[in-house]
Amino acid sequence: MKIEPVRFGVIGIADVELGYPDVIYKTPNTELIAVCDINEKLVEGCKEKYKVDGYLDYKELLKRDDIEAVYIALPHYLHYPVAIEALLRGKHVLVEKPIAKTVKEADEIIKIAEEKNLILAVGFQSRGLKFHSQIKEIIEKGEIGFPIRFILEDVKFRTNAYFSKKWRGNWQLSGGGCVINQMVHYFDLLYWYFGKPKEVYGKIKNLFHNVPVDTLVNGIIEFENGTNGVVSLSITDCPHTFYLEIRGTKGNILQKIEMCQDNPNRQIKKTEILKFTTSIPDWIKNCERGMKDVSYVKNVFEEEVIEFKNRDVLLEKFIKAVRGIDKPLCSGKEGIYSLEISNAFVLSSIKRMPIKIPIDRDEYEEILNKLEKGEIKI
Ligand SMILES: NC(=O)c1ccc[n+]([C@@H]2O[C@H](COP(=O)([O-])OP(=O)(O)OC[C@H]3O[C@@H](n4cnc5c(N)ncnc54)[C@H](O)[C@@H]3O)[C@@H](O)[C@H]2O)c1
Repeated sequence: MKIEPVRFGVIGIADVELGYPDVIYKTPNTELIAVCDINEKLVEGCKEKYKVDGYLDYKELLKRDDIEAVYIALPHYLHYPVAIEALLRGKHVLVEKPIAKTVKEADEIIKIAEEKNLILAVGFQSRGLKFHSQIKEIIEKGEIGFPIRFILEDVKFRTNAYFSKKWRGNWQLSGGGCVINQMVHYFDLLYWYFGKPKEVYGKIKNLFHNVPVDTLVNGIIEFENGTNGVVSLSITDCPHTFYLEIRGTKGNILQKIEMCQDNPNRQIKKTEILKFTTSIPDWIKNCERGMKDVSYVKNVFEEEVIEFKNRDVLLEKFIKAVRGIDKPLCSGKEGIYSLEISNAFVLSSIKRMPIKIPIDRDEYEEILNKLEKGEIKI
């Protein structure tokens, strides 16, 4: 199908060769019109490489009538003001994850996008990867029955050098550590699989890094549909590993990713799908010999891949949504749930109690304010 190219502005470059303008430049059905960054060298590099206009002030870029959509790839504290300004200027918005620093900010961004009838999407590209989307399909088709519980472990390794970009290790500029930066990807997948979250009970900590934000997250998440499970997440462990176990009434899913220490992009991905010949409640009622009576069929898939951050599906769907022929991979309205979970973990850890979702917006702003000033610590 022929699609009229979407005219993009990119705010936040990060890297001339491999940064966000390059992603847009290489995506079909886009036209990169202008870029913006406070780093003049990056702007000049992009102007030369892509033959586009460059700005040091995002407000100037947003004044251009020929830009239809913006990709906001900025430190977290800037997502809110820049997304609001872009929407008020009539631009469709693709904002990198998390949608904002706090759910209160996210509420306002979503409201303005709705009022202006503009597309608002959040950069959760993992939904577009087969490894994850197959799980959504299996659950939706009822192949493992009702998903009773899950275990999710994702451990990564970041050193103090990672926090040399000052915004990343700073409550005011990032809104937290791994609980809002890396782990929102997994909170989004869990929301995608199980629906709206209901309650979070957890602990965030930092043991070794010289920043005040979290590097370890442990806890329980319960969803409105009744699914509940545990998460254990960190950026203090090496080598990187991802493990997901979902136990349903009619079957189980086990997924594992092992990342090679010398190249984290080289991954061994394994998915095991087990389907019982009847359901767990039936076995519990009728089996006399326990596990010996339970029969099942098991399939195992394993692949070794070189996995770069693949935003193909994210962008393809965003472009089509702008042209009115598809929906975003993750809309703003959906993208807020991962942030609800993230903010709830912080609140739960500070208050040492389970937190109901939606969280109390004003209470969270107050607690975050105290964390930012160092009046309370994790
Ligand atoms: N989806 C993913 O897998 C993924 C991966 C990495 C980062 N991210 C997200 O992308 C965003 C950026 O993260 P990063 O690690 O690339 O950060 P970064 O610090 O490497 O890049 C951010 C860029 O924004 C620029 N910038 C800062 N303030 C600005 C301003 N006022 N106006 C214009 N430009 C400004 C910086 O100079 C820098 O070039 C964050 O939201 C992060 O969570 C997403």
